[in-house]
Amino acid sequence: MQPGGDPVLAEALRGVRSVFQPIVEMDTGRVVAYEALARGPVGPLERPDALFAAARGAGRLAELDEACRAAAFRGAVDAGLVAPLTVFVNVEPEVLDTAPLADLVAIAENAPGAVRVVMEITERAIAARPAELLRTVERVRELGWAIAVDDVGAESMSLAFLPLLCPDVVKLDLRLVQERPGPAIAEIMNAVNAYAERSGAVVLAEGIETGQHLAYARGLGATLGQGWLFGRPGPGADPRLPVGELVLPGAGRTTGAIGAVSPFACLPDDVPLRRAPKALLIELSKQLEREAMRLGETCVVAATFQEARHFTVSTTQRYRDLVERTGFVCALGEDLPVEPLPGVRGAHLDAGDPVRGEWDVTVLSPHFSAALLARDLGDEGPDLERTFEYALTYERTTVSRAAQSLLSRVAPRSGQATPAGTAEPRPAATASPAATGLAVGTTTAEVLLRRALEATPSGVTIVDMRLPDQPIVYANEAFRELAGLPSEAILGRNCRLLQSPDTDPGAVARIRAAVAAGQSCRETVLNLRGPDRTPWWNELHLAPVHDADGTVVQYIGVQVDVTARVEAERALVRERDRTSAALARIQELAYTDPLTGLLNRRRLEEQVEAAIWEARARGDSLGLLFVDLDGFKTVNDRFGHAAGDELLQVVARRLRERVRRRDLLARLGGDEFLVALPDLTPETARAEATRVADELTASIRRAVPLSGTEVHVGASIGVSVCPEDGVVFADLLHRADLRMYDRKSATRGVAVRAATARAAAGSAPVPRREPVLP
Ligand code: FNR
Repeated sequence: MQPGGDPVLAEALRGVRSVFQPIVEMDTGRVVAYEALARGPVGPLERPDALFAAARGAGRLAELDEACRAAAFRGAVDAGLVAPLTVFVNVEPEVLDTAPLADLVAIAENAPGAVRVVMEITERAIAARPAELLRTVERVRELGWAIAVDDVGAESMSLAFLPLLCPDVVKLDLRLVQERPGPAIAEIMNAVNAYAERSGAVVLAEGIETGQHLAYARGLGATLGQGWLFGRPGPGADPRLPVGELVLPGAGRTTGAIGAVSPFACLPDDVPLRRAPKALLIELSKQLEREAMRLGETCVVAATFQEARHFTVSTTQRYRDLVERTGFVCALGEDLPVEPLPGVRGAHLDAGDPVRGEWDVTVLSPHFSAALLARDLGDEGPDLERTFEYALTYERTTVSRAAQSLLSRVAPRSGQATPAGTAEPRPAATASPAATGLAVGTTTAEVLLRRALEATPSGVTIVDMRLPDQPIVYANEAFRELAGLPSEAILGRNCRLLQSPDTDPGAVARIRAAVAAGQSCRETVLNLRGPDRTPWWNELHLAPVHDADGTVVQYIGVQVDVTARVEAERALVRERDRTSAALARIQELAYTDPLTGLLNRRRLEEQVEAAIWEARARGDSLGLLFVDLDGFKTVNDRFGHAAGDELLQVVARRLRERVRRRDLLARLGGDEFLVALPDLTPETARAEATRVADELTASIRRAVPLSGTEVHVGASIGVSVCPEDGVVFADLLHRADLRMYDRKSATRGVAVRAATARAAAGSAPVPRREPVLP
């Protein structure tokens, strides 16, 4: 007993006993065997389910399992259940390969008669630990005992394994006789009958409680029956039942140490070998995979890939389909993990393993068997032209042996309790997420961790960096919801499946670079959800996971849907853009002349004041031109205001065309314009400003096409220069205005009114010009 262990459990382990239930030959009504069933001592752990749960919880399952078998053997001998009777004894799947059998042999040898044993294996062992199961079957057969597979039909997996385990007895799950027949039952019986017919195995129906169950059982092809109709479990043989002998045609055959042999070596000597390049083997393999898909859940596929790199992206996709459709799939090769894809069982092949040099694909089901068994001839050439020596066989024994050879190398499913004293999974296994306890949590901490991951509202993904194209090997519930896809559509694929053509290529490139460098990164990317491809914003955080050597073996991704935030931010930016556009428009309206788009007088004044400050600071000069059109009023009177407005726009355009980019232009009102010329050299400022004034005058004088004709206007331009004529805008304007009048008076001889007050007040000048008409 373990120190500090549960005293009730310890007591129960010491007091385990067996009860025996008859197994009857249905045709004759004779009892031919008894199944030993474990019971705890009277108390809370008397029922086997409570007893096994307590032992499993306390990590003492192996102990209980051993105690049960010893009790079964001793009980059987004590109750005289010896030849011609047979005893059916169970072995717990989790402790299969460590179950000590030697003590039992000793008990059997000391019995007054021959103890005949059928070891029952439940189908739970098959998927979890196929290699261990095959080894146990070998050991049991070496002892001269027979094998029964229990609960056949509870899952299709057990049907797929019948040809591999070659049981002597097939025990049908009780629902087969207790439920109404349907397609599922037909499929099971199809597989069981195929196996029994070929192997001579005996079919035993459990759960026979009524005459109708009995009739069904016989109809299904069972010859042995077990259930309350024949007798309940009791302390020993039932004296009322006549005794018969169980004849097992296949009992005692051994499979040999199959694990030592490679699949290629399973080929009989007389099978002709062919040579073919890799390209042909690829096609032959795919054909076998298609056969397997057709066979469905009763089919086992076992394959070997030499090295993990040959398990390519397209293989990944095909194997994802295979695992979906068939009963059991395994893939072996150098550096392949225990679960290369969810549901696909794998294992690393050691350097010395002959299977490393082979390319094997075996497909086995109750009605079909085929194997491609090939050996690499070690060519140096291009990969697709590498030559192999191969055989394609449909011979069932060869295919079964080849499949057994591969299955005997499959690592236990990660998370599956490894009993003390047995080998740990191979090193490559430790890197798979499943090996971290994510796939099947066993310890309380792992179960809690897994629950937490499933409950978190953030998406969590784990990507295997050692497999081609970095497939997702774990995705929690939240990620499945974010992606809007079921696990099957996610697992085995790269996360880029969520991206859209609109996903920012810059962000994707940054992720690619970070992942290539083994660094963490955070990006917000546009992704798509579900089959209808609804866009959503994914705030993605990636972090590398290193192994003991510091190699990045996985990446963990955390995904958060930030669509609401991104959209709110974008709405805000749009709103801000709209507001600034409106503000700009308001400013424009406040500062510009709506007709010509030139500055208005107020804005020009501000800007000229600033330019004067700058000019003075730098020692530059600034020129101001006062432009007044000659003949504008006549055009207005004769052609209307619209034509007048158009003329003003033409003049504004011509002014703009003639000045430098940094010069300032304004319309004062009516037909008056101002031009400010900053950055003039003081010595030449006046001459320069006068030259510009002359150019502008000439430009304005050019004919203007208007209302289907051409009109001519002129311009009088007065020039003032800072600092000579003043150092504030008002003074410069005043000077320029006066000079403009001077010019106008000089050219037209029109009476001049004093301009001083008007210029200072900024009001529109009074009309004073004569038209110049065509
Ligand atoms: C990713 N990537 C990814 N991309 C995306 O658009 N949405 C996602 O949710 C995720 N999640 C994710 C998780 C983990 C763990 C990794 C390592 C990566 C990014 C994606 O898979 C891929 O790395 C980038 O698209 C860049 O590589 P490619 O497409 O240029 O090969």
